[in-house]
Amino acid sequence: MVAQAEGVNVDVDGRDARFVVVSNRGPVTFSRSGSEGSGEREYSRGAGGLVTALNAVLRHRRDAVWIASAISEEDARVAEEALRDGVPYEVEDLKVVLVEHEGEAYDLMYNHLANPLLWFVQHGLYNLPYTPELGDSTKRAWEEGYIPVNENFAEAVARTLEASAQEGEEPVILVHDYQLYMLPLFLRERLGDGAFISLFSHIPWPEPDHWRVLPEYIREDVLRSLLKADVVAFHTHRYARNFARTAHEVLNVEADEEEGVIHTREREVWVRPYPISIDPDEFKKLAQSEEVLKEEEFVKDLPGKLLLRVDRMDLSKNVVRGFAAYARMLERYPDTRGEVTFLAQLQPSRGDIPEYASYARAIQRAVDEINEKYGTDSWEPIVLSMEDNFPRSVAAYKNYDALLVNAVRDGMNLVAKEAAVINERDGVLILSENAGAYEELGEHALTVNPFDIDEQAVKIYEAFNMPDDERTRRAEVLRQTVIENDIEEWVKAQLKDIAAHPKWRGT
Ligand code: F6P
Repeated sequence: MVAQAEGVNVDVDGRDARFVVVSNRGPVTFSRSGSEGSGEREYSRGAGGLVTALNAVLRHRRDAVWIASAISEEDARVAEEALRDGVPYEVEDLKVVLVEHEGEAYDLMYNHLANPLLWFVQHGLYNLPYTPELGDSTKRAWEEGYIPVNENFAEAVARTLEASAQEGEEPVILVHDYQLYMLPLFLRERLGDGAFISLFSHIPWPEPDHWRVLPEYIREDVLRSLLKADVVAFHTHRYARNFARTAHEVLNVEADEEEGVIHTREREVWVRPYPISIDPDEFKKLAQSEEVLKEEEFVKDLPGKLLLRVDRMDLSKNVVRGFAAYARMLERYPDTRGEVTFLAQLQPSRGDIPEYASYARAIQRAVDEINEKYGTDSWEPIVLSMEDNFPRSVAAYKNYDALLVNAVRDGMNLVAKEAAVINERDGVLILSENAGAYEELGEHALTVNPFDIDEQAVKIYEAFNMPDDERTRRAEVLRQTVIENDIEEWVKAQLKDIAAHPKWRGT
């Protein structure tokens, strides 16, 4: 299949390129049916927006291979089989290679380095007078966790390419996210300069001074590795600029922020924004599915107007402040009491990390206090769900009057896009100015400073009381914006740049 990238033919599946996608979380995770796990092999979809987006991209590209971590026990069996048989596992039109890591190394990478440290630095979540407390344990998590897991991935990519190599074909390796920052370096060591490597960071890139919170060895090694890629990609101009500035200040490389190019001695690295999106048709279809229609009965039964949030249970999502803002609205505008319900669909996430576990408790406490203070026999102000119920979230997407996305910082936030496409009530989007989606959608949303509780309270009230014609106008533009800039546009923009890159053109 040949993908057209505006005037340039990029043969994505055949002669010229062999596409390999690499991410920590894979498209599916496997399990065994039956109480003892003795039954049939089953699978469920991986969590998070990244997986949903890459799924939509790869499903129709049969030659591409997706390499990801084996997370469950059954994943590990799938990984062993692939290693033994030398062929990827085929599932839902995808070719998947799962990589098994040594347990402790993976724990150090995921629970001690990537998710607390890199995630917190890049989302600005630390309370700097007190945290983080870096030291020997950080170094150990880096050396015995992050590095070996990245090496292991590099080996898997090299093996996969070797097993499927064809004459005259150059690999295009699309690496995703902050769990795999060292991969460009380790891939170059194994594959040399021929491979085209792109690293897509799906989370914000902070200002240079904030990056300097990291110990020098991480701060510099990550940047050196990323500059072994040909393209370093982000969701917004702001993150791309922050990255170019950080590389310049920390490594003293020549960076042209406006052009989005960093020159090193070895290569030209393009630093580019590609705002990720969704497959609108998939969501429209999902909205009519039986499971979603069933969940709609529950959602439509909630009293009054509906305020909705749908998030992974993550500190960056600013859930507790969102509840405080809602409570302030109830306090300030007593006429809203009993007339609105706040449905919070929160998907459990990273529960082995102490900060996440205590955040989950803080969420529960905040909800209990507000429901205790304002609730009545016939009205629960906040309906909280802390389980993974995607059909219910989609049912709620269709029926909200206002959607709250008040993230402290967020790489993109696909909830804002998914919901806009299928909402049936001309719902108003209340959007943090620190969400990546703000660059595209901010103009048509009610925007908020995520730290300002009073402002959020007023905006929630304003959303509920907006004149109908303005609601309709805003909702329509939001929907069209997402439909026009869908997931295929995200892919096309990247293919176009690969085709235009001097490395690809051989110049
Ligand atoms: O895009 C951010 C991200 O961290 C992805 O890398 C990840 O797959 C997703 O969110 C969900 O997080 P996790 O894989 O840690 O559950």
